[in-house]
Amino acid sequence: MFVLHLALLSCAVTALANPPHLTPITGPFKTGVVNLPLTDYSRKDLFAPNNFRKLMVSIYYPTPEHNNNPTSYITPAVASIYEAQLNLTSGSLTTVVANSKKNALPLLVPNSKRVIFSHGGGTSRLIHTALLEDLASYGYVAISIDHPYDANAVQFPDGSVILRDPSNFTTDLLDRWYRQRLDDIYFVDGLTGDFSIICPTVQARTAALVAGHSFGGAAVAGAMIESHRFIGGFNFDGAFWNNSIAGDAVKPFFIMGGSVRIPAGDTSWDTFRAAQTGWNREAIVSGIQHFGFTDFPSLIQALGVPRTQGILDFIGTIAPDRAIQIQRTYVKDFADWRFGKGPGRIVAGPTPQFPEVSFVPPP
Ligand SMILES: *[C@@H]1O[C@H](CO)[C@@H](O)[C@H](O)[C@H]1NC(C)=O
Ligand SMILES: *[C@@H]1O[C@H](CO)[C@@H](O)[C@H](O)[C@H]1NC(C)=O
Ligand SMILES: *[C@@H]1O[C@H](CO)[C@@H](O)[C@H](O)[C@H]1NC(C)=O
Repeated sequence: MFVLHLALLSCAVTALANPPHLTPITGPFKTGVVNLPLTDYSRKDLFAPNNFRKLMVSIYYPTPEHNNNPTSYITPAVASIYEAQLNLTSGSLTTVVANSKKNALPLLVPNSKRVIFSHGGGTSRLIHTALLEDLASYGYVAISIDHPYDANAVQFPDGSVILRDPSNFTTDLLDRWYRQRLDDIYFVDGLTGDFSIICPTVQARTAALVAGHSFGGAAVAGAMIESHRFIGGFNFDGAFWNNSIAGDAVKPFFIMGGSVRIPAGDTSWDTFRAAQTGWNREAIVSGIQHFGFTDFPSLIQALGVPRTQGILDFIGTIAPDRAIQIQRTYVKDFADWRFGKGPGRIVAGPTPQFPEVSFVPPP
């Protein structure tokens, strides 16, 4: 009995002292995060027409507070889906801690700028934490939106969960997901009130940059094309859809893809680029796969998951740290340039610093 207790105790202490950790942030500021449920009382949900549209956002921002008790950052609802899909130990993803302190006091960074992020189809706002908290560590306020019914699982603070809409893939379903995403992006961009109390560093309706993964990359392009309200867009490996297939974003737009085009044979990047009157670039990262543009390289490494063929097909053969570094460096360089804080040298074209990133000439 006594021995058993000791063993349990030492186990618990070890787990607390050294939990698996997302890639450390690299900027000068410590970071905080608020996970906020929001309701848009100006529209009904296209998938729950009796209800106003509600969603979750994570807001990452600079803070003076040290994160002395890092906690789990992926909700159990989201974790269990990926654990099943990737054959990971049940509960393992929720053991990973991120860098940002929950509900930390915001630090007033003069001239702080916003980056709004839209996740991929059937994924989650949470799996872009390594990218977005790093931006916050450089003074940005980064806001990751969950798009309920399209996200795999959105868990609200009261414990309720909205799962992905189960209907089969149809053009109509994709168009509705897409329409709702654009309106979610405008809603989050236009937030004042509660939002500016939580993030007083951000003046409401100052310029914002949009970025997204996969279907979210298409959505941010569509939002730029439709609304003209964003100063730049960044698409991680997303085939364009609906108005983004041949619309003009006018403002600068960066596309970053992996070794394999998804879906195979997709030509929407060419049609999109042919329609641009503004600055645009398309860069291909060799050795990276679709989910290499998420937290998963870092998660797999933190958990010591063997790099089986299934895992390599998911994230690519690229070194995990490198995948995270590329996401962070290119988005930050693009944002710094668009907000007048840097020359945008890295997003402009090939650089010896990143030999695995090649630039595709315009079509
Ligand atoms: C979805 O549609 C495809 C193509 O018609 C079909 O093969 C598949 O069985 C359908 N899946 C479900 C869950 O209905
Ligand atoms: C975009 O989706 C809407 C539905 O939200 C649809 O009416 C429209 O035809 C679609 N446009 C294109 C170009 O596919
Ligand atoms: C998980 O296991 C299934 C069944 O063995 C296999 O088909 C799949 O490739 C595995 N996935 C990964 C990511 O290893």
